[in-house]
Amino acid sequence: MSVSIVVGSQWGDEGKGKIVDLLSSKFDIVARYQGGANAGHTIQIGDKKYIFHLIPSGILHENVICVIGNGVVIEPQALLDEIDMLEKNGINIEGRLFISHNAHLIMPYHKLLDSINEKGTQKIGTTGRGIGPSYIDKYARRGIRIADLLNKETLKEKIRKNLEEKNNLLTKMYDRDELDVEAIIDECIKFDERIDKYITDTSAYLNDAIINKKSVLLEGAQGALLDVDHGTYPYVTSSNPTSGGACTGTGIPPTKISEIIGIVKAYTTRVGLGPFPTELFDEDGEKLGRIGAEFGATTGRPRRCGWFDAFLVNYSRKINGIERVVITKLDVLGYFDEIKVCTGYEINGKKLKYFPTSEAELNAAKPIYETMKGWKQDISNARSYDELPQEAKEYLTFISEKCGFEIKYISVGPKRSQTIEL
Ligand code: GDP
Ligand code: IMO
Ligand code: MG
Repeated sequence: MSVSIVVGSQWGDEGKGKIVDLLSSKFDIVARYQGGANAGHTIQIGDKKYIFHLIPSGILHENVICVIGNGVVIEPQALLDEIDMLEKNGINIEGRLFISHNAHLIMPYHKLLDSINEKGTQKIGTTGRGIGPSYIDKYARRGIRIADLLNKETLKEKIRKNLEEKNNLLTKMYDRDELDVEAIIDECIKFDERIDKYITDTSAYLNDAIINKKSVLLEGAQGALLDVDHGTYPYVTSSNPTSGGACTGTGIPPTKISEIIGIVKAYTTRVGLGPFPTELFDEDGEKLGRIGAEFGATTGRPRRCGWFDAFLVNYSRKINGIERVVITKLDVLGYFDEIKVCTGYEINGKKLKYFPTSEAELNAAKPIYETMKGWKQDISNARSYDELPQEAKEYLTFISEKCGFEIKYISVGPKRSQTIEL
């Protein structure tokens, strides 16, 4: 029996999808625990590329059961599109997908309110998937849950109550048209017809599976610095991508967790607004984005790029309890004469002891860099640590010492095969 958590250690898009797919062959069950279709997890097998937003990245392994946990917020159309995509590709999901009865739905008004908020003065550059507004309703205890789909009368009543309030807000505050209650109810009923067979008490299912010695991989979405409690608030998502979220988001108790694996990109990226101390605005930044193909898997937006931030990843290691990591996209650094690593921050000439998460401090923070020699060669065909150039090995040793983690795998390309196990 083992329960492992995979967490993004930076601002998301570390390559979690590729690694979860890779590790899935060793697990019986893969479960998502938070976030929604704001996530875009890419898996490349040969020349075929899959992007998953809601379905766990273990689904391509035919013997793996996939679970969408209670902590996830589900956008009906996004889920149906993904199910259709899998069916089109001949991937059978019957009996292999379970959806928590306690997961919340993303309703059309959540997406609308997300887009309205993004036009205002408190814009944060969201993915526009209705994530924040849906979690607001969850915590305000008026959200519509998957289980509500099972009782049509209470479903209708709950949607009507919600819409009364939302339509008031839309018409009176935002000068928008009212939303059609009946159309939304119809959509939910149609959605239920397609997914009814997947709904279950996933917490009970997972805990039974653990008792029966099944191994479980818990797949985080986003990354630690986007965590609503521990990230760069307010420029965060509205859930807990950090490892603690894996327990609340699935119903698996902390005492059952065996390992927390951090996914660490060999440099730093961020999509959307918010502070980013090591961001590059020069040729090097442009080069990281171009060679790393840094465009959002959900929105297609160009990702902001910068040097590796060991101060940030060390913070992430601590709050997640990460011991071993997977370093991804190391190949992308193979085209630089020099590579910088941020080892700490200074504010007004004073070195900080702890990683700051406030906007003001992060904006004022000056990264302290150490410069390393680049290896200037293509390493995407390396399949063992020994095949890596000396400078790449020195880079890996340096960042593991600065961040206090041990490296378990190194990823040198988007494909499953482009991975080195240590
Ligand atoms: P996730 O959200 O953490 O799953 O990451 P994304 O899928 O959004 O973004 C990672 C991108 O990098 C995807 O396009 C992957 O195919 C790609 N990728 C993953 N690992 C590597 C790697 O080691 N090298 C390169 N060059 N690309 C990678
Ligand atoms: P994966 O799982 C990178 C960012 C958005 C925005 C902020 C809030 O693929 O790593 P939201 O739509 O969640 O309310 O947006 O969070 N964001 C991500 N950035 N990767 C993601 O997911 C992200 N999901 C949300 O860009 O800055
Ligand atoms: Mg992504």
